[in-house]
Amino acid sequence: MWDTIDNLKKQLDNFQPQTVADVEALRVGILGKKGSLTRLFEAFKDVDPAEKKELGKQLNLLKNKVQETVDRHRERLAATAAQNISGDDLTKPAGLIHTGSRHPIAIVQREILDIFRKMGFSVEEGPEIEDDWHVFSALNFAPDHPARDMQDTFFINTDSDNPVLLRTHTSSVQVRTMEKQKPPIRVVCPGRVFRNEAISARAHCIFHQVEGLYIDEKVSFADLKQSILLFVREMFGASAKIRLRPSYFPFTEPSAEVDVNCNICGGAGCNICKNTGWLEIMGAGMVDPNVLKASGIDPEKFSGFAFGMGVERIAMLKWQVRDLRLYFENDVRFLEQFQGGLL
Ligand code: PHE
Repeated sequence: MWDTIDNLKKQLDNFQPQTVADVEALRVGILGKKGSLTRLFEAFKDVDPAEKKELGKQLNLLKNKVQETVDRHRERLAATAAQNISGDDLTKPAGLIHTGSRHPIAIVQREILDIFRKMGFSVEEGPEIEDDWHVFSALNFAPDHPARDMQDTFFINTDSDNPVLLRTHTSSVQVRTMEKQKPPIRVVCPGRVFRNEAISARAHCIFHQVEGLYIDEKVSFADLKQSILLFVREMFGASAKIRLRPSYFPFTEPSAEVDVNCNICGGAGCNICKNTGWLEIMGAGMVDPNVLKASGIDPEKFSGFAFGMGVERIAMLKWQVRDLRLYFENDVRFLEQFQGGLL
């Protein structure tokens, strides 16, 4: 019996199966109903009692060794088989997965919209390819008004009285909202706008705006100022200040340019704020009665304010990015620095 045990041990040590079937054959040959070890266990009954203790121990150890050998070879062959199928080493640790993140312009746009949503504004969107009516005429731009030059327009089709063009501001969405909705109206309109401008560090021919419109009975300039102040404090911090300067837009009267105090130099003056301590962030004003009339809203009963800002400009101030073009080149080394929330 001891010889058989020794032989079995050697067989296990030298075992080099090529296939899972080889492993199974070994297992059946040793542990199966008529297997060599099974037969040894049967013969164990008739063994001299003096030898039983040691022999029993050896038989059990051998049984464990068989099982361990079978398991080890099975696992090894299964891994090799998987590798052969996929051509890859499936036991290799996985590489890093880059999940990506939102574009900085999208992050800032969402932040702007969230602030206004908290103030009760809802979000409206409209087409990028527009007509003259919604971009200019309904907004009180007279046909030959020089203000049309303020926003150098990309025209698509000028054959009709109402040319088709790329919108130069999202005020067009405000017009569409006034046409389909009765006051009270409280909307913010985000979107891409297009202007025929030379591309530089400070200007691009495509950029993003968020414009806002609030129309109700008795809306005043104080409401405008307070809403913008609230927005600026949420966006730039509780100590942010604003300053309004008189300006001109055909669709608002009075009109203003809104500045925020420069958070880069803290007011001391730097090259970003051109040594003034202030940075221009948006245009704003009380909606001109002619604009209300053009969209079928009674200017005797209702008044409103409007404002419009460039998202890239807010993003530049927030992150102190000095070249606007970086936002459009989509260089991953630039983009991956903004972790303002995943999808
Ligand atoms: N539409 C203007 C622009 O694009 C911004 C603006 C909106 C100004 C609303 C006043 C009121 O420059």
